[in-house]
Amino acid sequence: MSSEAINRSLPVYLTGHRGMVGSALVRRFEKAGFTNILTATRQELDLRDPAAVDSWFAANKPGYVVHAAGTVGGIHANRSRQADFLYDNMMMHATVLRSAWQHGVEKLLYLGSSCIYPRDCPQPIKEEYLLNGTLEPTNEGYAIAKIAGLKSCEAYRSQHGCNFISAMPTNLYGPNDNFDLKNSHVLPALIRKFHDYRVEGGDGVTIWGTGSPKREFLHVDDLADACLYLLENYNEPGTINVGTGEDLAIAELAELIRSIVCPEAPLNYDSSMPDGTPRKLLDVGRLKSLGWKSQIPLAEGISSTYKWFCEHIESSSEVRGMAAS
Ligand SMILES: NC(=O)c1ccc[n+]([C@@H]2O[C@H](COP(=O)([O-])OP(=O)(O)OC[C@H]3O[C@@H](n4cnc5c(N)ncnc54)[C@H](OP(=O)(O)O)[C@@H]3O)[C@@H](O)[C@H]2O)c1
Repeated sequence: MSSEAINRSLPVYLTGHRGMVGSALVRRFEKAGFTNILTATRQELDLRDPAAVDSWFAANKPGYVVHAAGTVGGIHANRSRQADFLYDNMMMHATVLRSAWQHGVEKLLYLGSSCIYPRDCPQPIKEEYLLNGTLEPTNEGYAIAKIAGLKSCEAYRSQHGCNFISAMPTNLYGPNDNFDLKNSHVLPALIRKFHDYRVEGGDGVTIWGTGSPKREFLHVDDLADACLYLLENYNEPGTINVGTGEDLAIAELAELIRSIVCPEAPLNYDSSMPDGTPRKLLDVGRLKSLGWKSQIPLAEGISSTYKWFCEHIESSSEVRGMAAS
C-alpha cells in the first residue's frame, strides 16, 4: 500500500507529550524527520478548556494532530474516580476535535483503548464488536468517554469531511509508565513489586487471583510506530486495533518479570481475589493486512523498560508512582 503524503515540515501537535504514549510519539516523530513538533503541558494548556484550546489552535496552526492526552489508570483509579475519568476524557476530545475541525487540521488520529470493548466479547476481539454488549462496570466512565471520542471522529468525518481516524491500542507498557502500586496497570505494577522485593526484601510478590487470565501487551514504541504508519496509510471511518495478536497468562507474565527483575523473589497467588475476564486479545488482522506488525518481543520490551525504570529511579520524581509512596 502506498503511503499518503504526510508533510514532515507541517506542524504536528502531539497532545499529552509527557505521558507514556505521548513521549513515545515524540521520539518516533523526531526520528521520522518531523521538524515542527508542537507540545503543551497541562499547565500551559488545559485541554478541558474549550476557549483556551481554540486560542491555542488559532495561534499554533497544527497541520496534524495525534491526541494522546487523557486521564488514564488501572482498575482502582478507574473504579474510584468514574466521574473524573468520564468528564476529563470527554472534555479533552471534545475541545481538541472541534478546534481541529474549525482550524482546518489536515488529519487527526484519536486513541481509543481495548478496555472499552464490551466485557464479554468473543475472542480475539474484532473492531466490529464495539458497542455490541455491556461494558465492564469498573471502567464505565472511561469507556463511555472514549467511545464518544471514537464516534466523534466518525461524526466530524461524515458531517464536515474531516480526515479524523482512530486506533484501538491494547495494554501498553514502556518508559514513562505509571509505577504506582495502587493506580497502575498490571505490568508496571509487577515490575515495581519485584523491584521492591529486590531492594527491600519482605514476604515476596503476591498476585491477586489465580494468574490464569490471559492478556496482551504492546510496547509503547511499537504503538508510536503504528500511529505514524496509520497517519500515512489509513483513512477509514472505523477504528483499527493495534496489538501484537498474542497473549499470555498473568502467571506467565509474572514469571517473565520475575526472571528479569529478581529471579529469587517468592511468588504467591491470592486465589480468594477475583480473576476478572478470562481472556482479552485483539484481532489485529485488519492492521496486518494494511502492512504493519509489532517488532518488540515482550521479554526484550520488559528488560528495556526495567532498565529505564532503574536509570530514572535515582530521581524518583521522574518515575511516576514512586514519589508518592
Ligand atoms: N496506558 C495504556 O495501557 C493505554 C492503552 C490503550 C490506550 N491508551 C490511551 O493512550 C492515551 C495516553 O495514555 P498514557 O498511558 O500515555 O497516559 P499518561 O501516561 O497518563 O499520559 C497522559 C497525558 O495526558 C496529559 N493530560 C492529562 N490531562 C490533561 C489536561 N486536562 N490537559 C492537558 N493534558 C492533559 C498529561 O499531561 P501532563 O504530563 O502535562 O500532566 C499526560 O502527559 C490515552 O488516551 C489512553 O486512553 C493507553
